Amino acid sequence: MSDDSRPSPSATPSAARTAAVIPAAGRGVRLGPGAPKALRALGGTPMLIHAVRAMAASRAVSLVVVVAPPEGAAEVKSLLDAHALPERTDFLVVPGGQTRKESVKLGLDALPAGHDIVLVHDAARPLVPVDTVDAVIEAVREGAPAVVPALPLADTVKQVEPAGTPGEPEPVVATPDRARLRAVQTPQGFDRATLVRAHETVTGDVTDDAGMVEQLGLTVVAVPGHEEAFKVTRPLDLVLAEAVLARRRLNDGF
Ligand code: C5P
Repeated sequence: MSDDSRPSPSATPSAARTAAVIPAAGRGVRLGPGAPKALRALGGTPMLIHAVRAMAASRAVSLVVVVAPPEGAAEVKSLLDAHALPERTDFLVVPGGQTRKESVKLGLDALPAGHDIVLVHDAARPLVPVDTVDAVIEAVREGAPAVVPALPLADTVKQVEPAGTPGEPEPVVATPDRARLRAVQTPQGFDRATLVRAHETVTGDVTDDAGMVEQLGLTVVAVPGHEEAFKVTRPLDLVLAEAVLARRRLNDGF
């Protein structure tokens, strides 16, 4: 809970002009065989539904656009229809592309006029708390063209010369100063026109949307992220996500 006395975006629904795009079209191969990652169950509910609810939990978010696997758009639409979501929030499902970047662009193309702030949130981060979502929106409202939630690193990071063969020793070429590094999460928040321009201008694949805004020469700012906004990538992440959900249910019970 924020102890800040300023009204949070959640408390000002009249200014609700934020849309969230959720790219959920990846196969999630690192999680092992099975359903596309976004459709894996967490606490009995598909990961994607958790991610949609996490965005809709912010009262500032009035539209969620889910970018679905192209062959699974109808299934995703029925999933959204079958799960309770806040009445104040509208939903759209569009088919995704070959890469995350293409999928985000397809989601942006589907946005109606009137949403000046856009969040891009990975379906693979189902447990991001609403305070983090609101902090990102607030920083965009205060004038930042792009905002990322970020955390300091626990591990020291080495830059290596990647070995051609997996498992072979790799020469270390540099050790960046850990105090200046951050691990970046989602939702990332954008002034809509800036994000559209970034997608129209920047070529080449990127691992996050804010990186494209950096390539435009604009300043991206980082706000505090949250440890529960971690990305479910490997099987162990599923165990952690289940534990976080179980703890939340226990706490909600009191
Ligand atoms: O692969 P990675 O974990 O970086 O994917 C991040 C997000 O991008 C996931 O939510 C995934 O579903 C999405 N994605 C997508 N379209 C693709 C590839 C990934 O929407 N073609």
